Amino acid sequence: MVVAGARPNFVKAKPVLDALAATGLRTTFVHTGQHYDEAMSGVFFADLDLRAPDHHLAAGSGSHAVQTAAVMTAFESLLDRLAPDVVVVFGDVNSTLACALVAAKAGVRSAHVEAGLRSGDRSMPEEINRIVTDQLCDDLFATSPEAVEHLLRGGATPHQVHLVGNVMVDTLLARQADAFARPVLAELGLRPGGYGLLTLHRPANVDDPATLTDLLAALGEIAARCPLVFPAHPRTAARLAGRLPAGIRLLGPVGYLDSIALQAGARLVLTDSGGIQEETTVLGVPCLTLRDSTERPLTVTEGTNRVVGRERAAVVAAAFEALDHPPFPRRPALWDGRASQRIAAILARALAVTTARPAA
Ligand code: UD1
Repeated sequence: MVVAGARPNFVKAKPVLDALAATGLRTTFVHTGQHYDEAMSGVFFADLDLRAPDHHLAAGSGSHAVQTAAVMTAFESLLDRLAPDVVVVFGDVNSTLACALVAAKAGVRSAHVEAGLRSGDRSMPEEINRIVTDQLCDDLFATSPEAVEHLLRGGATPHQVHLVGNVMVDTLLARQADAFARPVLAELGLRPGGYGLLTLHRPANVDDPATLTDLLAALGEIAARCPLVFPAHPRTAARLAGRLPAGIRLLGPVGYLDSIALQAGARLVLTDSGGIQEETTVLGVPCLTLRDSTERPLTVTEGTNRVVGRERAAVVAAAFEALDHPPFPRRPALWDGRASQRIAAILARALAVTTARPAA
């Protein structure tokens, strides 16, 4: 049973579903409904050629407790009914934690894809989701050696932990030709290398008025040198009405292929997203992360990312430095497009052992 709930999950679920099917395992695909708009969910199914979910839990939005509880309640009855051999969850969203918790209490084997990431910042809801999900799951699939260390230090046994690479990169490498063929730059009147891309949606950046004001001032200074396009998450758009400095162009949320096309064509990416730090590393585009920490340090040590905080002077200085001296593109080992195949092979072997019936 493969579970996805929010935008970044769909990108990770696609190659894993395909790789599991290729091993001959039967898969059921569950959408929790955490993200539900066409722009946050529907377009990803079309762009990724992702099969329609077999079950939709329609959990929807709400406070963290309300949303997590809604997913848990709906998922528990589905899990009881279908009794899968393993539940596979992705990343760090509320749906990930909710389904891992239900599976653990039902005694169903669970696997966490993208395990072991840690920002060290417990004020991020995603950090709580990561820590708890990793404690609950039986099989822990990591993208980086640091993630493996975090898992072992957190009490996982070596046989639970597998360094497999990055499934988001599997999707990126499989879909980049389609992304580069998209007309989105021409439609927006953008020239490759002639603009910067901005994304912001973390509560720590967009919900606190003082932080947002400081960030917008920095972004205005950067936009005076390099115009920015800003596809905004609904959470952000609601907080920005009428506050954007000149030179920053607001768009609605974009689908997967347009997001990759806009990143690849950008001279610079400014973001507080997790996945975009990884995608820019693979695309070789300079990325500035507008946060105080990252759970993806490999994108800094072996990629194009810099973590620059939210303070005005520091953000502007880092952006000008990246425009004048872009970092040399590099790609971490094992981010090679085959992580999903490694995961599927490990799960297929494990399930063949645990579900084998004794000979009559
Ligand atoms: C979630 C993830 C975050 C991920 C992000 C973007 C958690 C804790 N956070 O944050 O890690 O980076 O998704 O993909 O799970 N909304 C819509 N349409 C939708 C979905 C949401 O308008 O389809 C609006 C609603 O007003 C909702 C708000 O966005 O209240 C927040 O949605 P929610 O799923 O709670 O968290 P995200 O901020 O999207």
